[in-house]
Amino acid sequence: MGGSAAKVVFTLLVTLAIIIPCLEAGIAEYDDFLKNQAEEAHTIALESYVPTPEFVASELNYHVHLAMQNSTRRGLRAPRNPAFGPCDSTNPIDNCWRCNKDWANDRYQLAKCGKGFGRRAVGGLGGPIYVVNDTSDDDMQNPKPGTIRHAVTQQGPLWITFSRSMRITLQQELMISSDKTIDGRGANVQFKDGGGLTMQFVNNIIIHGIRVKNIVPKDGGMIRDSYNHVGHRTRSDGDAISIFGASNIWIDHVSLSNSADGLIDVIEGSTAITVSNCHMTRHNDVMLFGASDTNPHVNDKLMQITVAFNHFGQGLSQRMPRCRFGFFHVLNNDYTHWQIYAIGGSSKPTILSQGNRFIAPNLDFAKEITHRDYATPEQWMQWQWQSDMDLLMNGATFNTTGAPIQMTYKKGLIMKPRDGTHVSRLTRHAGALNCYAGFPC
Ligand SMILES: *[C@@H]1O[C@H](CO)[C@@H](O)[C@H](O)[C@H]1NC(C)=O
Ligand SMILES: *[C@@H]1O[C@H](CO)[C@@H](O)[C@H](O)[C@H]1NC(C)=O
Ligand SMILES: *[C@@H]1O[C@H](CO)[C@@H](O)[C@H](O)[C@H]1NC(C)=O
Repeated sequence: MGGSAAKVVFTLLVTLAIIIPCLEAGIAEYDDFLKNQAEEAHTIALESYVPTPEFVASELNYHVHLAMQNSTRRGLRAPRNPAFGPCDSTNPIDNCWRCNKDWANDRYQLAKCGKGFGRRAVGGLGGPIYVVNDTSDDDMQNPKPGTIRHAVTQQGPLWITFSRSMRITLQQELMISSDKTIDGRGANVQFKDGGGLTMQFVNNIIIHGIRVKNIVPKDGGMIRDSYNHVGHRTRSDGDAISIFGASNIWIDHVSLSNSADGLIDVIEGSTAITVSNCHMTRHNDVMLFGASDTNPHVNDKLMQITVAFNHFGQGLSQRMPRCRFGFFHVLNNDYTHWQIYAIGGSSKPTILSQGNRFIAPNLDFAKEITHRDYATPEQWMQWQWQSDMDLLMNGATFNTTGAPIQMTYKKGLIMKPRDGTHVSRLTRHAGALNCYAGFPC
């Protein structure tokens, strides 16, 4: 190939590399505002990435250990919740706030409870409380005060709560801007039958205590994505929650089910993420962490995600999660249902599975927990996929590969995970909680 021809091909490849992610991004017009936002988001991702993810993993194990000790000691003296009796929070995230009967006057306490890679997410901490009191979603560009779309596009930190139980049907995907907490405690808040929740090129968000189901694709159009910007969006896929080039995101106690695309997709160089205490049901492709194996997506090497204390329940099929490139700590989750496989991946992800309970389905071909794509055995044998103190039931098998993951511990922090027999206690209250003001949740 002559020099100039090679140059043309190269230019074409570079152009494609820039255009393809934009199409997937749902961005119809990549204006200066968005380019700038994407660059800033990438800088934050680089800063949020930790060079020793094993340390974050072992620190979380240490906190599980402390919290279980704590809850045993507290025992029956615990304050009571009218629905559940004594507060029996056992995992270190819940233990930090759930037994506080004054939670409704002390909502910001939650911001200090994050653990794992998303631990630095404090959301709207320090900002005002915003009460959503209007379920409508009629104006995508200038949303009405009192609506969720108005709330999430305000400037600066904001702690968003709900005046009462409500069902919100989003007319388009909801573009959540940085430094927000969506806090559904005290109400039954359902995002249902409409667009999903999107976090694109943003930082520092907590989503807690809501229910998201039956999310469907939406056509797109002009949609406000922040206080200063309205963007032209293409069609959305119908992910319940989509995290795109975003960092420091914590999803906790969210119930998710039955949506058109993924329940939680984390893609395009997102990092510093925790998915905890969620309850997922009735869905095929549950969680996608990294969307592509090809070059424009190598940013996904930055991806570091904690998946802890979740219940993967009825009617789920596969991808809990399905991973590419990054480091994934899958700790103390309850896998009670899958149809094809539980944990999968391609492009050499590192997966540390610890203290989970895996109950295989009654299908002979689906006993194996793991699934590897697009690689020869010689290649995937090198990927570090390790199982440590998992509880394997009903014939479940976990095909471990690669070298053991070297745990680097802080002095005095040599902590094994709690084994899978503790999982039903640790995940008993997964999903959105019924919280009443004046009582522990
Ligand atoms: C133990 O429980 C108390 C009160 O419920 C809580 O404030 C504290 O943070 C807990 N400690 C740990 C290590 O979880
Ligand atoms: C709803 O909330 C908005 C924004 O805070 C406020 O302006 C409005 O007065 C509230 N409406 C009602 C009926 O409380
Ligand atoms: C498990 O891994 C071995 C190689 O280590 C491979 O030969 C075998 O087919 C795998 N089994 C399953 C069920 O994936």
